[in-house]
Amino acid sequence: MNLDFSSTLSEPFRNADSTRLDLMTWTEVDEYLKECQGIILPIGSTEQHGPTGAIGTDALTAEAIAREVGRRTGVIVAPTQAFGMAEHHLGFPGTMSLKPSTLLAVLHDLLLSLASNGFERIFVINGHGGNIATAKAAFMQAHSTVQSRKLQVASRFQFRLANWFMHPTVFSLAKELYGDNEGQHATPSEIALTLHLEPSLQKKQRPLSAPSPSGPINGPEDFRNRYPDGRMGSDPYLAKSEHGEMLLNQAAIGLSKELLDFLQLP
Ligand code: NI
Repeated sequence: MNLDFSSTLSEPFRNADSTRLDLMTWTEVDEYLKECQGIILPIGSTEQHGPTGAIGTDALTAEAIAREVGRRTGVIVAPTQAFGMAEHHLGFPGTMSLKPSTLLAVLHDLLLSLASNGFERIFVINGHGGNIATAKAAFMQAHSTVQSRKLQVASRFQFRLANWFMHPTVFSLAKELYGDNEGQHATPSEIALTLHLEPSLQKKQRPLSAPSPSGPINGPEDFRNRYPDGRMGSDPYLAKSEHGEMLLNQAAIGLSKELLDFLQLP
């Protein structure tokens, strides 16, 4: 792999939509692989986000950040895995969840597909805390399969899990904007990002009563009892579209740098 690939990628790969895998042909992917073996995979969740937040928040945010990182770095962005591990949100209509074992199997198979085609650096941009444990398990399983099948990429195959909302500069910006009202679920920062991406969501915004404080996460029934409107300690009414734009930019700066560093690891 070229160490400074950003300056060596040819122009077509640096253009806005040219980094979307779903809009490329296989011959274009083939050409790309001769220059760069990295790919971004956005993963999210389809789950309740409080009474005023969109069900697709975690997938919309991960996808937007992934595409922005793709535009800035020239690295291909795979289609978004919009279903995640959201078992605890199943007490709220609209939530569609994969069991941990299902998500593990899905991610394993997607990673194996990429590995068998010659992708050796998989940068996963994640929008949902509930995916973290399972994604890590899937990476380990995929790694072991890649080794046992002796795929060509075996010696260079690596993953990085980038949880955008936990990136230090994004996290501090969210704290600066919302303080303790950021909370743990249906947070103003993620809602702000969706308002920036989908202005029609603004009309759902309204003041809400004080949320239940953040606490443990158990099964769906317990979750609904503890957090009756779906929020965990958050005030999403503080979210503004302008904040969303700032958060998107901050996440894109932070994760682009992390991706470039990751691609250059031996
Ligand atoms: Ni979320």
